[in-house]
Amino acid sequence: MARAAPLLAALTALLAAAAAGGDAPPGKIGLRHRREVVGRSAIFGGEHFMLEETDWYLLNLFRLWWHYGISFLRLQMWVEEVMEKFMRIYKYQAHGYAFSGVEELLYSLGESTFVNMTQHSVAESLLQVGVTQRFIDDVVSAVLRASYGQSAAMPAFAGAMSLAGAQGSLWSVEGGNKLVCSGLLKLTKANVIHATVTSVTLHSTEGKALYQVAYENEVGNSSDFYDIVVIATPLHLDNSSSNLTFAGFHPPIDDVQGSFQPTVVSLVHGYLNSSYFGFPDPKLFPFANILTTDFPSFFCTLDNICPVNISASFRRKQPQEAAVWRVQSPKPLFRTQLKTLFRSYYSVQTAEWQAHPLYGSRPTLPRFALHDQLFYLNALEWAASSVEVMAVAAKNVALLAYNRWYQDLDKIDQKDLMHKVKTEL
Ligand SMILES: *[C@@H]1O[C@H](CO)[C@@H](O)[C@H](O)[C@H]1NC(C)=O
Ligand SMILES: *[C@@H]1O[C@H](CO)[C@@H](O)[C@H](O)[C@H]1NC(C)=O
Ligand SMILES: *[C@@H]1O[C@H](CO)[C@@H](O)[C@H](O)[C@H]1NC(C)=O
Ligand SMILES: *[C@@H]1O[C@H](CO)[C@@H](O)[C@H](O)[C@H]1NC(C)=O
Ligand SMILES: *[C@@H]1O[C@H](CO)[C@@H](O)[C@H](O)[C@H]1NC(C)=O
Ligand SMILES: *[C@@H]1O[C@H](CO)[C@@H](O)[C@H](O)[C@H]1NC(C)=O
Repeated sequence: MARAAPLLAALTALLAAAAAGGDAPPGKIGLRHRREVVGRSAIFGGEHFMLEETDWYLLNLFRLWWHYGISFLRLQMWVEEVMEKFMRIYKYQAHGYAFSGVEELLYSLGESTFVNMTQHSVAESLLQVGVTQRFIDDVVSAVLRASYGQSAAMPAFAGAMSLAGAQGSLWSVEGGNKLVCSGLLKLTKANVIHATVTSVTLHSTEGKALYQVAYENEVGNSSDFYDIVVIATPLHLDNSSSNLTFAGFHPPIDDVQGSFQPTVVSLVHGYLNSSYFGFPDPKLFPFANILTTDFPSFFCTLDNICPVNISASFRRKQPQEAAVWRVQSPKPLFRTQLKTLFRSYYSVQTAEWQAHPLYGSRPTLPRFALHDQLFYLNALEWAASSVEVMAVAAKNVALLAYNRWYQDLDKIDQKDLMHKVKTEL
């Protein structure tokens, strides 16, 4: 079932698995790191820049320290603690353990603290560990706007994941990150049917579940029977990308609460209006990536983007030259808004999609297992939404299906896994 993968906060482990690092030979599916292009970032607060990155690492640190004192360190320690616990999932999965619900998965990693972090805001959690409101307003909220289009009122767990992604060490794949998906799909040698799934109907034969999956495409309507079905698209009522229905299930499958956050990406080829950012002389504009705080603003981020393949001689366009910029915004940009950001432009291409769950729009965490052998991969999006998190969810669902199929119940929803994993070695 196809849907553009919900994008894109952290790309680390998944890509590391698929590609080899640095100048090493290409990995299993022939991917390489894209060459880095340096560019400075800054956070724009509506009238002036709140925080500007310099070329000098120590000066960046000094500025953070000068402006925000110990908040910056406390934030880092908080994020690291969450990430360290989250990383346990890779060890559990390497030993074949799976979870039938998002809550069980989170509990096994970080006990009630993790579950609680899906119910309380980033701001609450950070204030509690001594991060100041000013640092949250100026810096944290800008990062959350950039990755989720949401504010520091979003849940702490998803927030921590996106702040971890903001600490650098992200990289991209030469030729485009989409090569990860197409490469992995090819590797599985799967038989792909290009069609839209319309319904899943439960049939039983000799006490065993059998699922009839109906789909339609240009050729017409058709259906097939399957032992195991995995749904890899968000199931929610409003503006759903799928109109999937379930039939024959008792109790019915109707866990479709919650809405999604639309995101609009506009690719603009043109001349940046550096005056808008307080630089009347465009030659002096120093930034390639601009984040924004929660000031009343029509855009979340503005990035100078580079091709998916970077040659050795590549250089960024000078700030006064025409370049390709990516604007992320919650709503489509009006012409007047484009005219504010750009002195003039040659072309604009836009894409709008339901990018992330609107956190707080559903009261409970969903389950991976919807029925005996019917699974819901996107359930984990409700804890955090990124490519890496979805790869973890996919592996969990694969293990869950396998363990259930072979009745290996000792590998499902086990408690105290840290201890079990240690003694198994
Ligand atoms: C849950 O998190 C909130 C906010 O961080 C905190 O005030 C509360 O004590 C936590 N509750 C539990 C049971 O950990
Ligand atoms: C870009 O990189 C990809 C992956 O390495 C390669 O397949 C493709 O041919 C390259 N394209 C160009 C235009 O160099
Ligand atoms: C295919 O099925 C849908 C319902 O899922 C129905 O509305 C449509 O008419 C069907 N098309 C054909 C060609 O049978
Ligand atoms: C769903 O889409 C409609 C029309 O595009 C829009 O008016 C509405 O606000 C959307 N609802 C949500 C929750 O995004
Ligand atoms: C889902 O159904 C609604 C109403 O029937 C329709 O407007 C919408 O286009 C459908 N969405 C998809 C992705 O097929
Ligand atoms: C550029 O920004 C300045 C300052 O906000 C604004 O006065 C001007 O109208 C904008 N547009 C152009 C095309 O200069």
